[in-house]
Amino acid sequence: MADIESFNLKPGRRLARKYVVGELLGRGWEGEVYHVVEEGTGVERAAKFFFPQRNPGNKTFNFYARKLDKLRGCSILIQYHTQETFRHKGMDIPFMVSEYVDGELLSEFLQRQRGRRLHPFEAMHLLYSLAEGVEEIHRMREYHGDLHSENIIVRRRGIGFQVKLVDMYHWGRPTSEHFKDDVCALVRCFYDAVGGAARYAKQTPEVKYICCGLKRSLITKKFRSVTALREHLERFRW
Ligand SMILES: Nc1ncnc2c1ncn2[C@@H]1O[C@H](COP(=O)(O)OP(=O)(O)O)[C@@H](O)[C@H]1O
Ligand SMILES: [Mg+2]
Repeated sequence: MADIESFNLKPGRRLARKYVVGELLGRGWEGEVYHVVEEGTGVERAAKFFFPQRNPGNKTFNFYARKLDKLRGCSILIQYHTQETFRHKGMDIPFMVSEYVDGELLSEFLQRQRGRRLHPFEAMHLLYSLAEGVEEIHRMREYHGDLHSENIIVRRRGIGFQVKLVDMYHWGRPTSEHFKDDVCALVRCFYDAVGGAARYAKQTPEVKYICCGLKRSLITKKFRSVTALREHLERFRW
C-alpha cells in the first residue's frame, strides 16, 4: 500500500455523521489537521488525520490520546475530545478530534516580525510562558518530546504570550533525558526567536547566559529542570 501524503479533504465534507470539514490548518510528519465544525452545535474543533504509515496499529494515535487525556489539567496543552474514523481509499482512517486553537504558529509569527526576530525581552516573555506550561507537564512526570516552532501556537495577550502546544511525541517511558530534551528544546526556541545563529555573536550576556551556545551539557548543568529555567527568568539581574 502506497504512503498517503495528503487526504485532500474538501471543505463541506461531512465526516462521522457530524463533523463538517473546513480549512486545512496544517500538515506535519504524522498527519494533517483540519478545522471542523460539529453540526448542530456549531462548535469548532481541530481534527488530526494520521497518515497510516505513521500510525501502525493506531499506536501513534493511542499514545497521543492517552497522554493528552492524562495531562488534561495542563493548560498549555490542547484538550483531547474523541476518536472517529472515516473511509479513505478503502481504509478506515482514524482521526482525533481536539480543541481548536485560534492562533498563529510560532514559526509564522517569527517570520512576520521585523528582522524575523523578537526583541530579547519579548523572547524572554515567550520563553517564560513556555517554561511555565512545560513545568506543569513535567510535574505530572510526563514530557512533551517534540517542542519546536511548528508545534507551538501563540497569541499575544497584553504584555505576555498565550501559548498552546500540539503534537507530543512518544519516545518511551519518561526518563531524565526526556525532561532534559524538553528544557534544551525550549532554549532552542528562545535562541531561534532572538535571531538564531546569524545574530548570536551580537547577543547580550543575559541572552547568551540562557542559550549557552546551544550546548546541551552546559544548558542541562545550568538548568537542571524546567523549574530552574523558569526561576532564572523570574530572578536574574540585568
Ligand atoms: N488543535 C489545533 N488547532 C489549530 N491548529 C492546529 C491544531 N493542531 C495542529 N494544528 C496545526 O496543524 C499542524 C500539524 O499538526 P501536528 O499535530 O503538529 O501534526 P504532525 O504530528 O504531523 O506534525 C500544526 O503545525 C498546526 O499548524
Ligand atoms: Mg507537528
